[in-house]
Amino acid sequence: METLQVKDKKFAVSIPEAEILKQVKRVAGEINRDYDGREPLFLAVLNGAFIFAADLMKEVVLPSEIQFIKLASYEGTTSTGAVTETIGMTADISGRDVVIIEDIVDTGLTMHHLVDSLSARSPRSIAICSLLVKPANLKIDLDIRYKCFEIPNDFILGYGLDYDGFGRNTRDIYTVVETV
Ligand code: IMP
Ligand code: MG
Repeated sequence: METLQVKDKKFAVSIPEAEILKQVKRVAGEINRDYDGREPLFLAVLNGAFIFAADLMKEVVLPSEIQFIKLASYEGTTSTGAVTETIGMTADISGRDVVIIEDIVDTGLTMHHLVDSLSARSPRSIAICSLLVKPANLKIDLDIRYKCFEIPNDFILGYGLDYDGFGRNTRDIYTVVETV
């Protein structure tokens, strides 16, 4: 088994690139169908969603816009959900169909906070589109309209997702196998 070491952890491929791209295409097809005749505004959450957002947008055939936002939170090894700020949220979203592009929903607290703060700006609709979801870890009721994969509660990296800043630049998604 080919492993990848990032800092103190060893990772092995859990979702190969071909499978990722297949699911990204499926989800883009759902968005193309659901938003037919509309002009959605995609809001990609940096940093983790940058590769997913790029691949997804290549499959979206609707007239659409994309903006990038960053959520500042107290970062640690586990998610605190203490989102302090939304950086770069300059778009006027009133009356718009907003589709949030996220890398992974873990506890769901980050997305819950973002949906709350966007709702106050009078969009026509808000939908969440997440590459990955860890259903066992969800702490609140969250409507995740589009998702590519549901995964177990293990730490993953690659295809945009990081471990302590590293590991975003892989084509496949990896799961931690060992801490050395
Ligand atoms: P939530 O608020 O708990 O849903 O946190 C979601 C955020 O935690 C994601 O946007 C990621 O930045 C981060 N995260 C959660 N699980 C993982 C993981 O397995 N690998 C890398 N980042 C993760
Ligand atoms: Mg994130």
